Amino acid sequence: MSAEKVTVSIIKADVGSVVGHARPHPSMLDAARNVLKDAQKAGTIEDFYVTRVGDDINLYMTHYKGENNKDVHGAAWECFQQATKIAKKMKLYAAGQDILTDAFSGNVKGAGPGSAEMTFEERGSEPLLFFMADKTEPSAYTLPLTRIFMDPFTTTGLVIDKRAKQGFDFEIQDVMANKKVVMSAPEESWSILSLLGDTSRYAIKRINSRAGIGPAAVVSTDKLNMTAGRYVGKDDPVCICRCQSGLPSVGEYTQPFLNSTMLVAGWMRGSHIGAFYPCSPEDSDPTYYDGPPRVCCLGFQLNNGKLQGLEPYGAKNGEHIPVDFFGTSTFDEARRNAIRASKFMRSQGPFVPSILGAEEMEYTSRPDVLKELTSRFVSLDEKPKKAAAKKAPAKKTTSKKKKVEVE
Ligand code: F6R
Ligand code: MG
Ligand code: MG
Repeated sequence: MSAEKVTVSIIKADVGSVVGHARPHPSMLDAARNVLKDAQKAGTIEDFYVTRVGDDINLYMTHYKGENNKDVHGAAWECFQQATKIAKKMKLYAAGQDILTDAFSGNVKGAGPGSAEMTFEERGSEPLLFFMADKTEPSAYTLPLTRIFMDPFTTTGLVIDKRAKQGFDFEIQDVMANKKVVMSAPEESWSILSLLGDTSRYAIKRINSRAGIGPAAVVSTDKLNMTAGRYVGKDDPVCICRCQSGLPSVGEYTQPFLNSTMLVAGWMRGSHIGAFYPCSPEDSDPTYYDGPPRVCCLGFQLNNGKLQGLEPYGAKNGEHIPVDFFGTSTFDEARRNAIRASKFMRSQGPFVPSILGAEEMEYTSRPDVLKELTSRFVSLDEKPKKAAAKKAPAKKTTSKKKKVEVE
């Protein structure tokens, strides 16, 4: 008989912040903790940890109820309702922003919050990493994840760890067409990259081990602006990763965030390109031009469905202390590089590639500008009537002249 499978879920939402789009008020996080304490007591969830990145509240939950479970999602929904109430009372900015429906209908999908969940048989020891990003989009994880899982020059484990060498299956989502496809690395690596290189359309949803270890990584790919049919906030993504023993090691996951300065879409008004800034949650306030896009990485061990960080064994009420990988001085250089690259992007002002292409802009005034100019735009082929009549006999001379020039 196989062991009961544990589910690890992150459900996240931006339901208001102080100041502007900077960070949720501590009372909002406390309110979420209280809801999840009750959910733990009621046996809905096994354990939890409440944190944030920038203006997004992130709820880490472990349980045995499977993915998209009504009770687990319902508890998260209640956290965001309570936090919204506080944000409204305090008149915080964008209070209730990611709550798109009045009534909870079974799970948070399509209702505003983002979620990433994975279910697996807990191994003898189960190291987990939780990535959380603010002011960017789900495909921001594509570059680091492809380096980690597909590039042997980045992850030596792909060459020298027998199980990692068997490769990985990638579930790739086409976020525009609402379709998915599973492709395998290393065999299809270059075809995988030919899709994923278009980060405006394709994103990695899941990566599974081909050595029978189960899920390795899962990303939230809910696209808020598409969900609501209008702009309601960038879909700041989270990513859960299992590590070690046939999967990338903790250090193989963190390495790309120091080795490369990665440009991602989002940042100010969800309409710019900025560099990923790895930092601790405490340092994740978007302080420079609403960014640059932050990414945090917290680690826990899983112990029979419970989270174990640096706190004493048996901690209650979500009082955990994760290992904060990007909060260390090792990543000072990555932060300096991210600011340098972001300042360089800003030097382009409102011109691409500092801003996104027209179809990706979260904010635009262009339709109004074009509407106002409708009667003033003329075709480049249209010749002014009088000039055209006069020009006709002169045509021969012009072409002759051209011919001479060519000769
Ligand atoms: C980006 C973000 C911010 C806002 C910007 C304008 O995801 O949340 O950069 O887009 O501060 O916000 P509003 O339109 O609320 O003034
Ligand atoms: Mg926001
Ligand atoms: Mg945010």
